[in-house]
Amino acid sequence: MRISCHYQGMHGFCPLDSATNKPVTNTHIYIMGSEVIVVRIGVIGTGVIGGMLARAFGRLPEEQVIIFNRSVAKAEAIRRECSRVRIAHSLPDLVTACDLVLLCTRPSDAKEVMADIGPALRSNQTLVTTISQIPIALWEQQTAARVATVIPSITQTVQSGVVLICYGSRFDGFQERFETIFGRIATPFVVEERQLRLSSDLASCGPAFLAHILSQWSVAAARMGDLSQAECEYILSRMLIGVSDLLKNGFTLSEIIRQVAIPGGITEAGIESLGADLQGLFVRLHRATNGGHPPTATAAGTKAREPDVFSSPYINGAN
Ligand SMILES: NC(=O)c1ccc[n+]([C@@H]2O[C@H](COP(=O)([O-])OP(=O)(O)OC[C@H]3O[C@@H](n4cnc5c(N)ncnc54)[C@H](OP(=O)(O)O)[C@@H]3O)[C@@H](O)[C@H]2O)c1
Repeated sequence: MRISCHYQGMHGFCPLDSATNKPVTNTHIYIMGSEVIVVRIGVIGTGVIGGMLARAFGRLPEEQVIIFNRSVAKAEAIRRECSRVRIAHSLPDLVTACDLVLLCTRPSDAKEVMADIGPALRSNQTLVTTISQIPIALWEQQTAARVATVIPSITQTVQSGVVLICYGSRFDGFQERFETIFGRIATPFVVEERQLRLSSDLASCGPAFLAHILSQWSVAAARMGDLSQAECEYILSRMLIGVSDLLKNGFTLSEIIRQVAIPGGITEAGIESLGADLQGLFVRLHRATNGGHPPTATAAGTKAREPDVFSSPYINGAN
């Protein structure tokens, strides 16, 4: 057998058979002290979130990305955009070829997928799901693989923002390597399962909340009569980019407020006009999403949840 090259999987370096371009079974070469970790990442379900993750990892030279989607057209669109991404012929093919399998279907489709891949995944592989509604313990009952839930955000489209990570019980000694991989497309932030819903409000729903607030601000500002809504939205959007750059350069939120809102000045007057109930507004928001609350505490107006696919109570609401 000719060995063409090596990739470093999550469990060490593995030789590739040049004829098949597949890892040689039960063979690993470990290189101690190396900074490079190349991982074969499989993405099942290339919709909004799976597609974004496939593209984000597919742009990196370190990763090898293999995808599988129910409707082939979506997978082919990604393949056209990212020439290094490959499409698996089937779910078993993807599972065999990957170290890390990202399951990104809707909860209602996950049961069928898990019936196919759960028993095939081995203990040295990692199952990562973006489906926060299903407890990790339930995934672990379906597979020998280590399991983590990750909550990505639209900001990973531009390899930025926060990706939330919640580890299952089989991750001992493996967290650093896992965070290195996700650290290539975002800032990883580790949370416990009970913190997932609230932190998802901030990291994953947050871009939509912020965009909505700025959009409403631009409508209100345009009503003052001197600028069009498009002009207000443009100024606010560029202002937000500037604030992000300040934060990137080490400013904190309170430092920004301190430097702009001079005592007795107009910015301070504007902040005071926002009133003491601004915090109440966000408490209402988190109550509406069930952030940090048990699933039974459904707020009025909350969307109906998807059916319970693994016959267990949901721990979090969907995005
Ligand atoms: N959207 C967000 O901002 C966000 C953020 C964090 C977490 N999440 C979670 O991530 C999950 C996916 O959300 P989404 O918004 O990306 O949903 P989506 O756009 O509907 O994508 C789901 C994808 O799964 C594919 N699929 C379904 N069954 C499959 C199967 N048996 N084999 C292969 N592919 C299959 C679907 O294929 P078809 O093309 O055939 O429909 C679709 O492309 C959800 O659980 C959601 O709660 C979403």
